[in-house]
Amino acid sequence: MPRGQLILIEGLDRSGKSTQASYLTSKLSPSKLIKFPDRTTPIGKLINEYLTNKSFALNDQSAHLLFSANRWELNEEIHSLLNQGYFIVLDRYIYSGLAYTLAKHDFQGEGVSSGGSKKQLGDIDWLLGPDKGLPKPDLTLFLTLDLQEISKRKGFGDERYEMEQFQARVKQCFLKVLPKEDNVQIVDVGGKTIEQVSEELWNLIVSKSKHIQTNNPIELI
Ligand code: TYD
Ligand code: MG
Repeated sequence: MPRGQLILIEGLDRSGKSTQASYLTSKLSPSKLIKFPDRTTPIGKLINEYLTNKSFALNDQSAHLLFSANRWELNEEIHSLLNQGYFIVLDRYIYSGLAYTLAKHDFQGEGVSSGGSKKQLGDIDWLLGPDKGLPKPDLTLFLTLDLQEISKRKGFGDERYEMEQFQARVKQCFLKVLPKEDNVQIVDVGGKTIEQVSEELWNLIVSKSKHIQTNNPIELI
């Protein structure tokens, strides 16, 4: 039996990626939505504390490693579902891990990052190290929009990282770390309705998934 496909939806905060990821999951069958960070696991609970409590002290390197460890907590489940033929839709994954930490390098902003040496945060090899060996997405769709639009969206500013100057940096960092490959697509969602974006993403999935080699085992990062 061919394996399932691993489809990643990445995006900036408030880009609508969670809405789109659940919609796409409902269109695919059999399917499972997996959201990172998964705040329900032992490590996910720590991450939730870190994100929602700006005075929770954790240095940037440790935070980075926790986000990666959280992905490892779901590694067996992802492999097992793929082997059972499931489409897995990921809401954030390794590129969020890379982009958000990279964006903290050189960023001085209250409540975003810790003090101390940040040399490692600018080193892509260091950043990617802990994710090596995780399953590699078959298709990545990155949702982007103008910064002015993000900060107007409902709920923006509630959590750590949700400030305009930082998001501007995150956006640049995503564009830097996303591989320039045909199975990595950038979708500008600015000025489009939820339905328009859904349709665009669905069309991309239909056209790209034909080329995914599901008789071969999933590649690893
Ligand atoms: P998330 O729960 O997806 O929030 P939202 O629904 O607002 O997109 O992610 C919470 C924050 O965690 C988000 O600002 C991005 C950040 N993050 C990292 O810094 N590193 C990571 O590896 C991941 C997966 C997320
Ligand atoms: Mg958020």
